[in-house]
Amino acid sequence: MKKVYVGMSADLIHPGHLNIINEARKLGEVTIGLLTDEAIAGYKRLPSLTYDQRELIIKNIKGVEKVIPQYTLDYVSNLQMLKPDFVVHGDDWKDGVQKQTRQRVIDVLKEWGGELIEIEYTKGISSTQLNESLKEIGTTPDIRMKKLKRLLGVKPIVRIMEAHNGLTGLIVENVNALKDNIKVEFDGMWLSSLTDSTAKGKPDTEAVDLTARLHTLNDIVEVTTKPIIYDGDTGGRTEHFVFTVRTLERLGVSAVIIEDKTGSKKNSLFGTDVEQTQETIENFCLKISAGKKSRVTNDFMIIARIESLILKAGMEDALKRANAYIEAGADGIMIHSKEKSTDEIIEFCREYKKFERKVPLVAVPSSYSSIYESQLEESGVSIVIYANHLLRSAYPAMNETAKSILENGRSFEADNNMMSIKEILNLIPGGK
Ligand code: SPV
Ligand code: MG
Repeated sequence: MKKVYVGMSADLIHPGHLNIINEARKLGEVTIGLLTDEAIAGYKRLPSLTYDQRELIIKNIKGVEKVIPQYTLDYVSNLQMLKPDFVVHGDDWKDGVQKQTRQRVIDVLKEWGGELIEIEYTKGISSTQLNESLKEIGTTPDIRMKKLKRLLGVKPIVRIMEAHNGLTGLIVENVNALKDNIKVEFDGMWLSSLTDSTAKGKPDTEAVDLTARLHTLNDIVEVTTKPIIYDGDTGGRTEHFVFTVRTLERLGVSAVIIEDKTGSKKNSLFGTDVEQTQETIENFCLKISAGKKSRVTNDFMIIARIESLILKAGMEDALKRANAYIEAGADGIMIHSKEKSTDEIIEFCREYKKFERKVPLVAVPSSYSSIYESQLEESGVSIVIYANHLLRSAYPAMNETAKSILENGRSFEADNNMMSIKEILNLIPGGK
C-alpha cells in the first residue's frame, strides 16, 4: 500500500477538504498532517476549533487512516519522517503565502522519488469565505473571552490595538497587511481610558465612569469578534472593583488591567510632571485577590500594571511589585515606561526572565516606539499594546480638514484628503 500525506488545518471542514481526502485515498493509505494551533496562528488566524476538536473530526472522516500533528506550515520534517509516496494538496497554493512551502515539498519528495499531486481547487467554497460568514454571525461573550488565553498559548506575541468606538473596533477587526509574505493582523483590542475619554472630550482622570465606558464597550462588542483587554484605570475602590470584574466578564471581555495608583488618577505619560500616588503593595495585592475571587470563570484575566518606572520609584521597586502581584494572583504583569529609550523596559524584562514564577508580560510602547515587536518578543513580552494610535492619527486629519474649510470658504480643497462619499456610504455594509 502506497503512503499518502495530506497537510491541512481542517478548521471549517467543507466539500473541498472531502474531495482532497477522497482523491488521496485512491492513491494509498492517507495520513493527515494536522496543523497545530501554533502553526495556523503563525500564518493566518487562530482556528475556531482547537487541535483536539479538529483531530477528533478529521479522524472520523472516511478514508483517513492516521492523523499526526504538523507543527509548522512547512511540511519538510513530517515528510522526512514519513517518506510518503505522494503528497496531495489543492492546486491553490502555487501563489501567495504557501508558494515557498510548496516548492520545499517538491524538493524534499525528490529525495526518495515521491510525487506531489495537485487536485483542482473546489470552486464556490473556501475557508476564507466561511470565516467571513462566521464573522458576520458574530461571536458569544464566552468564546470571545476565552480567545485571549488561547492566543497566548499559541502565539509568541499577541498584538493589540486600541479601539474607542465601533468604527475603530472594525478597523482592528478587519485591517491586515502582508509582512514578509505573511498576512498579519491585530489579535485584539485595547479599550484605552485615554482614547475613550479623549473621544468623549474628557480628561483621562477616571472622570468617564464605568457606565459611560460600558457604552463604548457595547458599541465595540456589537460589531467585532476579537478579544478585548479593558483598561480599568486604578480599578477604583476594591469593593467596587469586584463588580467591575463580573460586569466585564459577563460582557465577554478577556482581561482587565489595573494600575497600582491611588487617589486622583492622571495619565501615566505625564510621569512626574503631575502629582500621582502609587498604591501600597499590600493594598494593591488585596485588590488583585478580591478581583480574582469575584470572577465566575477561570478564563477572565486580571493583569496588574506597575507604575514604578513612570513614577521614578526605581527598578527594584518595580521588580518587587511584580513578584508580590504574581503572588497575589495576577494573571499578567504590565510594565509601563514613558521613556523614549528602551533601556529600562529591556532591563525589567531581563530581570523578569529570572523569576521562578512568571505570568504573561505586557508592554505598551507608546513613548519607546522605536522598538520592534520582535525585540519585545525576544525580551519575553507576551502582549504588545498600541494604546492610542488610531485616535492620535485621526485627530490631526480631522483638524486639517476643518481648518481647510475655514481657510477656503468651501470644502473642495479638502476633498483629496478624505474618503469619497461613495466610500463612506459603502464602508459599513447593510446601509442600502
Ligand atoms: C491608556 O491607554 O489609557 C493607558 C496607557 O492607560 S497610557 O496612556 O500610556 O497610560
Ligand atoms: Mg489608561
